[in-house]
Amino acid sequence: MARPARAAFVCQNCGSIASRWAGKCAGCGEWNTLVEETDAGPVPPGTGLTRTTRGRAVALEPLAGSSQSAPRIATGLAELDRVTGGGIVPGSALLIGGEPGIGKSTLLLQLAASLAAAGHRAVYFSGEEAVAQVRLRADRLGLAQAPVSLASETNLANILATLAEGRRPDLVVIDSIQTLWADALDAAPGTVSQVRAATQALIRFAKSHGSALLLVGHVTKDGQIAGPKVVEHMVDTVLYFEGDRGHPFRILRAVKNRFGATDEIGVFEMAGQGLREVANPSELFLGDRDADTPGAAVFAGIEGTRPLLVEIQALVAPSTLGTPRRAVVGWDASRLAMLLAVLDARCGLSFAQTDVYLNVAGGLKIAEPAADLAAAAALISSISGVALPQNQVFFGEISLSGAVRAAAHMTTRLKEAQKLGFKRAVLPQAGEVDTAALTLSLHRIPHLKALAEQLAPCD
Ligand code: TYD
Ligand code: MG
Repeated sequence: MARPARAAFVCQNCGSIASRWAGKCAGCGEWNTLVEETDAGPVPPGTGLTRTTRGRAVALEPLAGSSQSAPRIATGLAELDRVTGGGIVPGSALLIGGEPGIGKSTLLLQLAASLAAAGHRAVYFSGEEAVAQVRLRADRLGLAQAPVSLASETNLANILATLAEGRRPDLVVIDSIQTLWADALDAAPGTVSQVRAATQALIRFAKSHGSALLLVGHVTKDGQIAGPKVVEHMVDTVLYFEGDRGHPFRILRAVKNRFGATDEIGVFEMAGQGLREVANPSELFLGDRDADTPGAAVFAGIEGTRPLLVEIQALVAPSTLGTPRRAVVGWDASRLAMLLAVLDARCGLSFAQTDVYLNVAGGLKIAEPAADLAAAAALISSISGVALPQNQVFFGEISLSGAVRAAAHMTTRLKEAQKLGFKRAVLPQAGEVDTAALTLSLHRIPHLKALAEQLAPCD
């Protein structure tokens, strides 16, 4: 027997349910996120989900057994393949989030066109743009001839009915999940219950038909995918498409992947003809460097399995404020605070009267602790006013004692630096390096003091 529908207040941030409206969500503490939604029972009717009254025993299997690695469809976009771990898995669901205008629709249209051109059936549902708009974009991307099946639709039942017709789709793109609505639910599109019901029904279709499902998700102002976290739990893979609007570079990053690693990134460049893959990102991020400016150091980093060289810039300037300003773009602010404290306590370099700005060039965000040494070099160079040699790279993690710790994949970093014409590397003393094929000179330091003495000799 169906329960009568009852009103509930659902937090649009965390999905927790309250029986009464309140300004602040008791679950996550966010303000103004409770929205009244009619709860039509645990299973929304009309979404293809049925309630079973009695359970049925399922066959239990041992953990050991014949297992095949997940079959994959190579997408034709090497950077996307890299992030997903080798291609898209049939029957899996993938959520891609990113700020408006970052290029999600462009990426997915290029993906659909690429798969369609390879003979797969790709269906693209746009809830945000009319068919003519998508066509116009395809025209501009030079993809108008790709046999993608296109529709502008937001009604979930219509989408499911369309998908059930004709040849089984290999790829289903929904742009975006927030625009869909199931008419059985009273809530507005984009609310928690609508997003959840639509995701559930689409995943069910994808799993039973072996189609890969790609959902676009909007992000909130603090960069999280909007809607309940439960959507992120329901899908197999969550990707973020990020970048700085002022820069053409876009980075695709996996934050969850049931079929592969989550530390790989894909790098794209937004050009006139859509997104272009960037096979060698180091060249891109080091593209326009100023010669002889103090405060710039090149960090030899690793993203996933791929080395990535990027410039870290620091500016240290006398402060007029009681509390000097510290501003960081692309790095962790608390790591900068730690580094400044270590430079003060262990190397005698005081930043107490100065404003400090730190910037990672190209709009990249670095999370690796091995960037410490490069950031320190940039800071020391800026405070002493001496430019670092152009042909030098840095990497190594700095501990609170000022010791420089070994980093992972040291040889890979050095090889990349050498390939790009760098002649010298400053790196930790600890840790093994395979010097067989290396011609660049290695300056191995045990402590940050060694770097400080070399760059800013005490007098
Ligand atoms: P879009 O894919 O619509 O972003 P999203 O779906 O994430 O909101 O990207 C739109 C932006 O990309 C827009 O600001 C213009 C830019 N763009 C280009 O620079 N070149 C192109 O070829 C295309 C199609 C878009
Ligand atoms: Mg879009």
